[in-house]
Amino acid sequence: PGFSVEVLASVDSTSSELMRRARGGRTEPTLLVAETQTAGRGRLGRQWKSAGVYEGTGVVPALTFSLGLPLAPQGWSGLSLAVGVTVAECLDGTGAEPRIRLKWPNDLWLAGDRKLGGILVETASFATGPQTAEQPRYVVVGIGLNVLPVLAEGLSTPPACLREVDTSLSAARALKRLALPLVQALLGFAEHGFAPFQPRFARRDVLAGRGVTLSNGQQGTAHGVSDEGALLVHTATGMQAITSAEISVRPQ
Ligand code: BTN
Repeated sequence: PGFSVEVLASVDSTSSELMRRARGGRTEPTLLVAETQTAGRGRLGRQWKSAGVYEGTGVVPALTFSLGLPLAPQGWSGLSLAVGVTVAECLDGTGAEPRIRLKWPNDLWLAGDRKLGGILVETASFATGPQTAEQPRYVVVGIGLNVLPVLAEGLSTPPACLREVDTSLSAARALKRLALPLVQALLGFAEHGFAPFQPRFARRDVLAGRGVTLSNGQQGTAHGVSDEGALLVHTATGMQAITSAEISVRPQ
């Protein structure tokens, strides 16, 4: 399918912009990049803050973009994990010791402890016709990645950045590497689901084997993800398959 690529100097949020367009009936495949976001969003209603383009220099310290396209997968769970696997493999290679790790369900970490970026998956229904499970929806995959080191005010650990992974990476180079593999991954997910991504996620799983606390306060040990992308947590009441929750890693 043809894709249009658009670069905006500034927008509130690339994901908000594509969702607004979809609600207005504009559902063509689009990759929207912003040099500066004024109201970037994360999961669970959080803000995603990134430094805007450095004035007068043109340097873009964070890569913020969203990819929107119609998709009709069997189910949506696992999609943000499949995106995370794809981003990590494109930027980190598939060597024996992965440096970019994935924290279920949507964080990219560098090594085991610092956040490199995040993924936000949203969908909009098409305006007309009854909605059924297999009908296409317009999916908007938003990705934010720190590229250059930033001063972390008020954060206990400074965020990680792509320059630590590969000193030759810029926002533009990273995007160039990611764009086509991401489209392919989304189409692959629609056809085959999460299962082919599961072992690739497992290699980078930050939580595996670690003590975790769920948002309801329950504690347990993470045991990887199911072939549908649910987080498996062993708790006092047995193994639970968690499809959506806030997970924090328990200090050991
Ligand atoms: C998270 O860490 O919770 C997800 C962060 C996702 C940020 C990206 S930046 C591009 C796109 N536009 C947004 O407003 N959010 C996503």
